[in-house]
Amino acid sequence: MKQTRRNFIKTAGVASLLVPLSLPAIAKIRQTRLNSFVVPALDRGIRKGNNVSFKLAIQAGKTSFFNGVNTPTLGLNQSYLGPVLRAKRGDTVSINVSNHINEVTTVHWHGMTLPANMDGGPHQAIPPNKTWTSRFQIRQEAGTLWYHSHAMHKTGPQVYHGLAGMFILDDEGSDKLGLPNEYGVDDIPCTIQDRRFNQDGSFSYMSMMPDRMMGMMGSIVLVNGVVTPTLVAKKTLLRLRLHNGSNARTYNLAFSDGRPFHVIASDCGFLHKPFQTNQVRLAVAERVEILVDVSDRKEVLLKSLASSAGGMMGMMPMMQMNNKALNIMTIDARQAKQSARKVPAVLRNSTLNLNPKAATATRQFELEMGMMGRGGMGGMMGGMMNRMDNGGRDGMFRINGKSMDINRIDFQVKANSTEIWEISNASPMAHPFHVHNVQFRILDRNGKRPHPSESGLKDVVLVHGNERVRIIMKFPEYSDAKVPYMYHCHILEHEDQGMMGQFVVV
Ligand code: C2O
Ligand code: CU
Ligand code: CU
Repeated sequence: MKQTRRNFIKTAGVASLLVPLSLPAIAKIRQTRLNSFVVPALDRGIRKGNNVSFKLAIQAGKTSFFNGVNTPTLGLNQSYLGPVLRAKRGDTVSINVSNHINEVTTVHWHGMTLPANMDGGPHQAIPPNKTWTSRFQIRQEAGTLWYHSHAMHKTGPQVYHGLAGMFILDDEGSDKLGLPNEYGVDDIPCTIQDRRFNQDGSFSYMSMMPDRMMGMMGSIVLVNGVVTPTLVAKKTLLRLRLHNGSNARTYNLAFSDGRPFHVIASDCGFLHKPFQTNQVRLAVAERVEILVDVSDRKEVLLKSLASSAGGMMGMMPMMQMNNKALNIMTIDARQAKQSARKVPAVLRNSTLNLNPKAATATRQFELEMGMMGRGGMGGMMGGMMNRMDNGGRDGMFRINGKSMDINRIDFQVKANSTEIWEISNASPMAHPFHVHNVQFRILDRNGKRPHPSESGLKDVVLVHGNERVRIIMKFPEYSDAKVPYMYHCHILEHEDQGMMGQFVVV
């Protein structure tokens, strides 16, 4: 059966009758949580020279996040999430994706430079029982990328239920920087997601009024599919690849004892040199790699601090969900062995040449939601209420006044050209803006230089209310006049409701 958006909303309406787990129930369940840290399976594919082939089977299953409770989930080669794929620059990867679930899906390679028809966006839909093969050469620098469903109007629910995984890229120099690099030992992938559960153990999706507007948030944090797990550290210097795989939440990551750590990489590559801090913000779809020293051999908690960043005015209680403090995971370093690694003084410069003087076009993007900017909060609420029943597809979420239309190409860019994009946010809520096929650099935020932790190559940038962010990027050599790439807000419910557009490279 073809499930339309309207049907989906109806289903979600029924689901909302299932009461979300009450506090005592959560407390009880917390005691029985299965909380050992899980290192995701590493999949290096089958290699013949520089050709590497992978197989991903999209499937439905059941996952136990709490003892004795089975949650219906989606996964790739497993019941929830997928393996960590790994390849290196120069490889030609060929990824065979088969769809064994009852709805159309896609798998998009987030952060990857590749031909448009290999991108896995809404135009590469995989119907049930069908297979799609994506084949492309890795031409970019080492980085912590990821993959996820990008099905038209269904990205939010499909990712929420588990259709995502990490994709690590290496290059010739990335292993010679002296960084911790033993997968699962001192180089640890961490996909962070927040979830809300129904009383029957199922995931609660779009069951509360603010979900549609704020995006889907929950107060239970999973790391690699485990509720606030404990990582038993094997080494005293850890490299954590922190990936925000949530639908809507921005995290303000810090350790419970305020200990400093070093940020070494942003979304798509290394920083020029490690940046020491004790807090880092991670918006939806962003990644940072950090080095943390646990040679004091204590137990320390990675937390998300309460903050207004990414929140909405911070005045109305129902809008404060994005602001609250959360525990992410514990690191138990009591048994950690002395690491032979040190924090390097310098990493390296990117070879991607992004020079503002080379820019041949400047484009403006205005992010809008509801009646924001006109009717203020009241108008927005009115707009939300009116549009509750149709998912807001008549225009609650827009870029430059338009909601996504899969049949409309918004503009063309030239292959190999450098462009500057100016993204401004006319709403009071922060939106993580993402562009397919490129790695960009942030030039400035309201005219000010970006924070050092986001000085490296990026593919997502959080744009706060009343902020104007300028990014620079060079479009690769791939061109295709017909098949577009996407740009969108990465709060998945905003994307599904229209805060997305398409461009072709010619
Ligand atoms: Cu992470 Cu358009 O996607
Ligand atoms: Cu993407
Ligand atoms: Cu948004």
